[in-house]
Amino acid sequence: MSSDLSLQKVSRHFGETRAVDDVSLDIRSGQFVGVIGRSGAGKSTMLRLINRLVDPTEGAILYEGRDITALKGKALREWRRDCAMIFQQFNLVERLDVLTNVLIGRLAEHGFVSSMAMRFSDEERAMAIQALDRLDLVPQALQRAGTLSGGQQQRVAIAKALVQQPKIMLADEPIASLDPANATLVMDGLKTINREDGITVLVNLHTLDTARAYCDRIIAMRQGRVFFDGTAAQLTDDVVRDIYGLEGLREFNEAVTSTSVHSSVLA
Ligand SMILES: Nc1ncnc2c1ncn2[C@@H]1O[C@H](COP(=O)(O)OP(=O)(O)O)[C@@H](O)[C@H]1O
Ligand SMILES: [Mg+2]
Repeated sequence: MSSDLSLQKVSRHFGETRAVDDVSLDIRSGQFVGVIGRSGAGKSTMLRLINRLVDPTEGAILYEGRDITALKGKALREWRRDCAMIFQQFNLVERLDVLTNVLIGRLAEHGFVSSMAMRFSDEERAMAIQALDRLDLVPQALQRAGTLSGGQQQRVAIAKALVQQPKIMLADEPIASLDPANATLVMDGLKTINREDGITVLVNLHTLDTARAYCDRIIAMRQGRVFFDGTAAQLTDDVVRDIYGLEGLREFNEAVTSTSVHSSVLA
């Protein structure tokens, strides 16, 4: 089976640091992939490489057979529209209303002049309302984004990404600053668009439980390398211990839900 997104021996060095080190991955369209690993493992850099926020030191990234690391100008802008990015800190314009924030997701489609004027067609407004409706945010459409809760703001960010009509959604720890109830709503939102629209989701997660609950496939990174790549069922306690290490287990209390992890670490 050919893969739609393919990382081929990709590395990104920052000085002496090998943030991403010889990573090869094939991701089929429509997969819901979770990336886990300790802080500094290279998760963010991997997403940024795909989105071309950073360029690889070595290797190639192909989408549908085309090397996206060589794209420039209009083709690069189109690629960035195709792989929408969601960040931990929402990235909304807080003083603007929710609907306008979502419409900003359409600006990639506009020429420079109409972008400056922020003029949107009725069709685009309808698209934005529909995206908000899917995330249960229509009642907040005219509220200033800054007045919403963190969880609501992150769902606005997903709606904004949706109107870009992306093929891939890259989410870098989208729930790291949310309480569990809001985290669930945000993850459910991502799952819905993955299932209903077939959008590939690649999400960096800091909690193992979330990765287990939502992801078809879990990739664990350690020191820039892919350390594990499989299903939640294949992610055994021993693998978890190796991913996070002894220190990491303290940070990732959620990971330590079974006594076998405790005993094997302490043994
Ligand atoms: N722009 C940068 N300049 C220098 N070092 C960086 C830069 N971005 C990431 N790094 C380093 O690369 C490594 C991987 O970082 P990152 O991808 O942010 O990991 P993660 O998201 O898993 O926490 C870390 O050692 C980090 O300090
Ligand atoms: Mg990160």
